[in-house]
Amino acid sequence: MSRRSCSIYTVGIICALLLVLGIGLMVAQVFRTMMHNRLKKEIVLVEGSRVFESWKAPPPPVYMEFFFFNMTNEQEFLNGAKPKLKQIGPYTYREYRYKDNVSMVRDGAMVSAYNTKSFVFMREKSVGDPAVDSITTVNIPAWAVMNKAKGSFWKAPMVSIWMDSTGSGFFTTRTVDELLWGYEDPLLARVAPTNPDVEKVFGLMYKKNGSNDGEFVFHTGQQNSLDYGRVVTWKGESKLTFWKSNQSNAINGSDGSAFHPLLDKNERIYVFTPDLCRSIYMEFEKDVEVKGIPAYRFTPPRSVLASKEENPANEGFCISPEECLGTGLLKVSPCRKGAPVVASFPHFYLADSKYVDAFEGINPQRTHHQTYLDLNPTTGVIVRANKRAQVNVLMSRLSGFPKTRVLNETIFPVMFINESVVIDDASAARVHKLLTIVTLGSNFPLIIVGLGGIMLLIVIILLARDRKQKAAAEDDTSYSPVNLKEKEDSQNGTYIGLTQKGEPQA
Ligand SMILES: *[C@@H]1O[C@H](CO)[C@@H](O)[C@H](O)[C@H]1NC(C)=O
Ligand SMILES: *[C@@H]1O[C@H](CO)[C@@H](O)[C@H](O)[C@H]1NC(C)=O
Ligand SMILES: *[C@@H]1O[C@H](CO)[C@@H](O)[C@H](O)[C@H]1NC(C)=O
Ligand SMILES: *[C@@H]1O[C@H](CO)[C@@H](O)[C@H](O)[C@H]1NC(C)=O
Ligand SMILES: *[C@@H]1O[C@H](CO)[C@@H](O)[C@H](O)[C@H]1NC(C)=O
Repeated sequence: MSRRSCSIYTVGIICALLLVLGIGLMVAQVFRTMMHNRLKKEIVLVEGSRVFESWKAPPPPVYMEFFFFNMTNEQEFLNGAKPKLKQIGPYTYREYRYKDNVSMVRDGAMVSAYNTKSFVFMREKSVGDPAVDSITTVNIPAWAVMNKAKGSFWKAPMVSIWMDSTGSGFFTTRTVDELLWGYEDPLLARVAPTNPDVEKVFGLMYKKNGSNDGEFVFHTGQQNSLDYGRVVTWKGESKLTFWKSNQSNAINGSDGSAFHPLLDKNERIYVFTPDLCRSIYMEFEKDVEVKGIPAYRFTPPRSVLASKEENPANEGFCISPEECLGTGLLKVSPCRKGAPVVASFPHFYLADSKYVDAFEGINPQRTHHQTYLDLNPTTGVIVRANKRAQVNVLMSRLSGFPKTRVLNETIFPVMFINESVVIDDASAARVHKLLTIVTLGSNFPLIIVGLGGIMLLIVIILLARDRKQKAAAEDDTSYSPVNLKEKEDSQNGTYIGLTQKGEPQA
């Protein structure tokens, strides 16, 4: 009799437990969705939101390293030898970024801002003094001017004469400071008076200190969290005009400073990069961890810069058929006033091996030359990032310039950058806290169910023990202590529950 009732009890309790667990799991799903919705509400670009201030003035320090390729056998190269390059660097600058003139537009649905950057040199993180170190490299102004004048009956000879009279050759030797921040080029000085859009000064980073790259309008992410930080217009336009197809001209994704929360491993992350005059995409590579924060590593796959044969979607980036280059290169002339500038990853990483093999001293390595973004998948926060890109010049035979006849078409590397950021400790602590809240919040019902289960077990054990005692002893008074125990326990449970919930807010 007693044994049977005991087994009925047990089955009943197990059924109840399973029911509670089932409901708990259901509620947990609801809670998770609730937490995620809360997250989506908080990660928006509006005044007073959790992320707005750090979006306007990102606290993590950004470092910009410049590496140059010093050409060490100029004469031999002009006589047909393989060019020898020596990498010189880093010349490191601390990069200060902030968003300028931030204002809500279109009835607060979007936010407009200018992205201002300035650079301060860091001697202790650099190999030498940029004011002294001199680099022999391609004479970019000369190649730009020759490209403009090529094929012209009277312009080409005139440019040749000017080049001779100013001593401008295919290569030039300049200090790092001059190459980066600008120098007056004698050939440009000759050309400028008759061409108002030509500047006398040339530098890879000329006028880039303390300036911005035009007005951006971003989605705030309030209507749809997937749109958080997405670029709507750049310089007032929602499309570029540099390229040949609508797909190539599309402005996709964010500007690289904000990514939507709740990232998926299967999604493509789009970033619009004014430096490259195009949008690129990145794909999931692997799970990483930075300062204890889990992250997904996204990196541009080979297809981004693949030739049009390898990836037909890239055909729009190739302005005229005879100018199409192989995999791993992007000719950015359309947005460099026609100068024969070609972008790639450093050391032609992910490019056709023929570009690598054309030089001595080029050695692509993933760890040093890959571009990547490590994003925390829950919050979309950037925990680490490395942007690496190389500037090259297309050297080729140009009609009207007999001296170029000795040259084969060469994509000549000039310089590459390594722009890196790692989340600062204070921001990392904030992300940790947020993640704890989200995890606890999502799992809160499970914690309650777990505690409930444990309590139930304790009650059962006590009940069973009580029964044994009752069977053994004659008097009937042992009931009340059990009741007391039960009460105590349930209070205890609630108390623990509250602590769990309250902790992260403290
Ligand atoms: C670059 O090469 C030139 C000639 O080979 C040399 O004089 C110069 O010192 C080199 N520059 C640096 C920074 O090493
Ligand atoms: C140009 O290419 C041809 C054939 O590939 C080679 O024989 C020649 O040496 C090259 N010339 C120069 C200047 O590199
Ligand atoms: C910001 O606004 C001020 C005042 O309207 C203006 O003078 C300034 O040029 C703007 N800054 C940028 C980067 O456009
Ligand atoms: C950039 O400008 C800041 C001040 O605006 C200055 O301190 C810094 O030296 C400049 N950097 C370069 C490379 O000229
Ligand atoms: C680029 O910067 C990161 C971080 O500062 C550094 O770890 C890495 O070695 C640099 N890359 C190269 C090619 O030096």
